[in-house]
Amino acid sequence: MIKVTQLTKTYETTSKRSFTAINNISLEINAGEMLAITGVSGSGKSTLLHILACLDKAYEGSVSIDNMEISKQSDRKLAYIRNNDSSIVMQDFMLIDDYSVFENVMFPLMLQKLSKKERKNRVCEALNQVGMLANIKQGADTLSGGEKQRVAIARAIVTKPKYIFADEPTGSLDKKNTDGIMQILETLNQSGITIVVVSHEQSVANHCKRKIELLDGKILS
Ligand SMILES: Nc1ncnc2c1ncn2[C@@H]1O[C@H](COP(=O)(O)OP(=O)(O)OP(=O)(O)O)[C@@H](O)[C@H]1O
Ligand SMILES: [Mg+2]
Repeated sequence: MIKVTQLTKTYETTSKRSFTAINNISLEINAGEMLAITGVSGSGKSTLLHILACLDKAYEGSVSIDNMEISKQSDRKLAYIRNNDSSIVMQDFMLIDDYSVFENVMFPLMLQKLSKKERKNRVCEALNQVGMLANIKQGADTLSGGEKQRVAIARAIVTKPKYIFADEPTGSLDKKNTDGIMQILETLNQSGITIVVVSHEQSVANHCKRKIELLDGKILS
């Protein structure tokens, strides 16, 4: 379970100037939930998601994952959590262009003690789940946008995380591909993974059982 209590995130912009991107929000996300975070551009969605995904521990208030306060953990421990328990799908995919599909999805497993064969099996299983197994040898730079997004999801699930945080996972896709990606996320959620999806699109949020809307760093509804 994730428990957010009176979370505030302030960015120091220039000297003596700061900007409050998340303003005193409280929220609970139960194990097994599929939650949508919506809101206009600049409302604080990515900022919140990065904190939940253990990428940013410089905040005020409390954020705990499975009873562990994120801000109190060492960078090493947070890296371990990101590699084992929680995965993020970034707003702009963040695939490595020079790598093949296989190498991109394998990447997070390099930090895990697995045999070569186990790694290969895991990569194939993840690619199969997103319908990209046939593209395993293709260069990442030659994929379409929808394919890149599916490979990014495969890379997120290859470590078998408990949590997936997806930032605009359908941002640049047409309706058919958007529905395809959301169906993949729904299937992953049904298999027990807790999922948080950030999107400014209502059609994406409608795939989620619960929605919260941010405006100016506060929860609207
Ligand atoms: N590193 C930073 N330094 C200063 N301000 C920042 C920083 N990162 C984000 N902000 C500001 O915080 C606010 C929230 O940004 P955030 O990226 O969380 O918005 P968002 O809701 O994800 O928007 P979008 O839908 O465009 O992705 C914005 O006004 C942004 O300019
Ligand atoms: Mg964003």
